[in-house]
Amino acid sequence: DRSIKIAPSILSADFADFGREIRAVEDQGADWVHVDVMDGHFVPNITFGPPAVAAFRKHVRTVMDVHLMIAPVDPYIDAFARAGADIITAHVEAGPHIHRTLQAIRGAGAKAGVALNPGTPAESVEHLLDLADLVCVMTVNPGFGGQKFIDMTDKVRRLHAMIGDRPVHIEIDGGVDPTTAPGLARAGADVLVAGSAVFRGGSVSNSAPYGENIAAI
Ligand code: DX5
Ligand code: ZN
Repeated sequence: DRSIKIAPSILSADFADFGREIRAVEDQGADWVHVDVMDGHFVPNITFGPPAVAAFRKHVRTVMDVHLMIAPVDPYIDAFARAGADIITAHVEAGPHIHRTLQAIRGAGAKAGVALNPGTPAESVEHLLDLADLVCVMTVNPGFGGQKFIDMTDKVRRLHAMIGDRPVHIEIDGGVDPTTAPGLARAGADVLVAGSAVFRGGSVSNSAPYGENIAAI
């Protein structure tokens, strides 16, 4: 279904070749590019900071979707906005003031996303929906690519109803593949992040078939 956007996560790309990896997935059908920022504190893994994200920006021609798995968030919002993030998503679990965080993201000129871990209920974002452009439903516990999908279909349905006619995307992150995607789309998701299902351990340098993998989702 082409009304569903596919956002490959470059967490599963070749880390020595991000420019070519980004251009390859975009040329082969990616709608957005998803960038996973991890701090070794909020999640048990470390990835990219603002200078790396600014370097990715030079290659992204679609939408750079930056998922912050960091705590605290607020001191870094301006740096990620200046690095060129189109969307900045923060976790509802990352601090006591997610409402302020979403205001600050919009204030910095980016679109604001709010992410929920698998153990966090849909209702935790109920009072944030007028401040958010995107709700990201995690279908793995964040930190690593290639984990087993955790079914959150009921949460997606509840969020879809709660959002109503507001212009808020529902994004799914974790374990998205051709077997899990259709049910998520039916439940109301419109943006699917996919890392291992797009890159499949391959890279642009060995001509991995990203287009086929994206089309299959
Ligand atoms: C997990 C990240 C995801 C991850 C998804 O913490 O937020 O974006 O890269 O990877 P897959 O699609 O392999 O589950
Ligand atoms: Zn992510």
